[in-house]
Amino acid sequence: MNIRQALLSDLPYIYDICRLTGKNGKDSSDLIRDNYIIGQYFAAPYLHFEIDTCFVLDNGSIPLGYILGTSSTMLFNEWMNTSWLPSVRKHYNSDLIATTDFDKFLIDIINQDCEIPGDLIDYPAHLHIDLLPAVQNRGYGKQMMKKFIAAITDKGSKGVHLSVALKNVGAIEFYKKNDFFEIRKDSGALFFGLKTAD
Ligand SMILES: CC(C)(COP(=O)(O)OP(=O)(O)OC[C@H]1O[C@@H](n2cnc3c(N)ncnc32)[C@H](O)[C@@H]1OP(=O)(O)O)[C@@H](O)C(=O)NCCC(=O)NCCS
Repeated sequence: MNIRQALLSDLPYIYDICRLTGKNGKDSSDLIRDNYIIGQYFAAPYLHFEIDTCFVLDNGSIPLGYILGTSSTMLFNEWMNTSWLPSVRKHYNSDLIATTDFDKFLIDIINQDCEIPGDLIDYPAHLHIDLLPAVQNRGYGKQMMKKFIAAITDKGSKGVHLSVALKNVGAIEFYKKNDFFEIRKDSGALFFGLKTAD
């Protein structure tokens, strides 16, 4: 097993991993209209925007997990709003009839512009980490987190934030073990932060 820089040719596997871990860490396939909607928002854009802050766990053939993110949420959001989301909205426009609540959530966020809430501004980077069940709880997540933090620190980012569903108790424990602290909780999610420099 090897943790390496992501490549654009990893994208099909990354879409799969995103879907198979997409609902509070579990398979979201039954809750979404097609295999791609979730990765179109939460995975693929990071490789197109800033591939040097994207890493995969490779079994010698294909990726079984990833950590994807950006060193600057502000610049990423600007690019999402002007370049990525307008084209994704052609597939998932706001008039679509949602198939489930989760499908509606995805259509809604795709049709909204991205914004960084004020209390997260001191944590300019953000990330998503997902590993398939076969490679969970074997220390790879921790190693991938270290690699990501080193990459964003090298690029001058002073901190990182992320959000996690309150129902995803395993991931919440994982982030605490990786020194993230709670910034804020809302009805369904918890926001964590970590400073990487003063
Ligand atoms: C959450 C996830 C990224 C953690 O990665 P991982 O490789 O399984 O975790 P690691 O083996 O590196 O564990 C690191 C530490 O976190 C703890 N941890 C990891 N998963 C845990 C869980 N489900 N419950 C409690 N603690 C957990 C480990 O015990 C370990 O603690 P230690 O440092 O004291 O030994 C991975 O399990 C995963 O992808 N889950 C499904 C998708 C998901 O939920 N992603 C997050 C969405 S916000």
